[in-house]
Amino acid sequence: MRRVDPLLGTCSLTELRQRRSHKWRNYPPDVLPAFVAEMDFDLAGPITAAVTSALAIGDCGYAHIGQLPDAFAQFAAQRLDWTVETSRVFAIPDVMTGLAEVIQALTPPGSGIVLNPPVYPPFRFRFGFYGRRLIDAPLARGADGRYALDPDAIEAALSQPDAAAYLLCSPHNPTGNVWSRADLAMVADACQRHGAILLVDEIHAPLALAGSRFVPFLAIDHELTRAETTFTFTSATKGWNIAGLKCGVAVAAAPAGITLLEERWEALLASHLGVLASVAAFTEGLPWLDAAVGQLGQNRTLLSGLLAEHLPGVGYAPPQASFLAWLDCRDLGLGDDPSAVFLEKGSVALGHGPDFGTEGHGFARLNMGTSPELLAEVVRRMAAAR
Ligand SMILES: Cc1ncc(COP(=O)(O)O)c(C=O)c1O
Repeated sequence: MRRVDPLLGTCSLTELRQRRSHKWRNYPPDVLPAFVAEMDFDLAGPITAAVTSALAIGDCGYAHIGQLPDAFAQFAAQRLDWTVETSRVFAIPDVMTGLAEVIQALTPPGSGIVLNPPVYPPFRFRFGFYGRRLIDAPLARGADGRYALDPDAIEAALSQPDAAAYLLCSPHNPTGNVWSRADLAMVADACQRHGAILLVDEIHAPLALAGSRFVPFLAIDHELTRAETTFTFTSATKGWNIAGLKCGVAVAAAPAGITLLEERWEALLASHLGVLASVAAFTEGLPWLDAAVGQLGQNRTLLSGLLAEHLPGVGYAPPQASFLAWLDCRDLGLGDDPSAVFLEKGSVALGHGPDFGTEGHGFARLNMGTSPELLAEVVRRMAAAR
């Protein structure tokens, strides 16, 4: 068996099937899961050590923010070329809760939030539950299958009378786009012109792959990076695969944003183990991160070959960041939700394209955060389902 980097383990299917997380328990054991955004690698050693040493002394109380701001600022400086003032950094339970609290604090019920579909489905349903209207500014899709922000669509969306906020997914899920400094400035200019709140979700940022340079929004030169209504949300949970430990990071752009987050401390309590794990990730977890990024870079190339061999009708533009592949399956003739056919006939679970917006009809999202062997098996099962 071809091994992945020793830091990442072997992705043994027998061991993975012992996991009890959503990925491994949502479907019967004969189904190979490649849907939800969890990776199959072993945990980074420093994270395991941080959590087990806390458990060993009964250290399972409420979170203290501890070293998190310093650890995040260190990571941001070393890896993202971003100088973060630690007083602006807050622990939050997860990115979605941080976004939800800020949206509820700053936008009136009934107001609109601009999104760039196809996009991470919970944005739509969670903020919909809270009585916000989602306004689509779809990404433009080129003939080569690559996506781009569409300034005209953004302008039209922000021009709607109730548009209050723009939620930018950067890097973008599911397309894997890493936005350039010019993209970010274009979005900021548009938000500024329309007085819109700008919320930036950078959860996939640690996983920018070779050839792409991730630019943190708050590191660009723009007035909105100092605005009371600009916030960045990120975490170690995608980069180091610790979503279940429940800790994210919110960064306020201005003092009023700091106050807003401070006042909502009770709604934004992270998990204590999550804080400890995130500190370990941001400080001692870089060799593991490098190994993961290296493996994902190999996997995205491998996937091109696998698709060419087994499913030549599928369109795939390799992502610039993270472990998600957004697959155009329209030529396979499998209907609006090809993942339903892959599941039923191939026993492989992918993300449902239509959940990402109408732009996702005929598409499916594949998680590549695994070994080359399991990735190959995912594609073989998809091909068998046609
Ligand atoms: C873009 C994006 N934002 C947010 C989340 C959810 O993050 P959290 O578990 O921190 O709420 C995910 C999870 O996959 C994601 O891909």
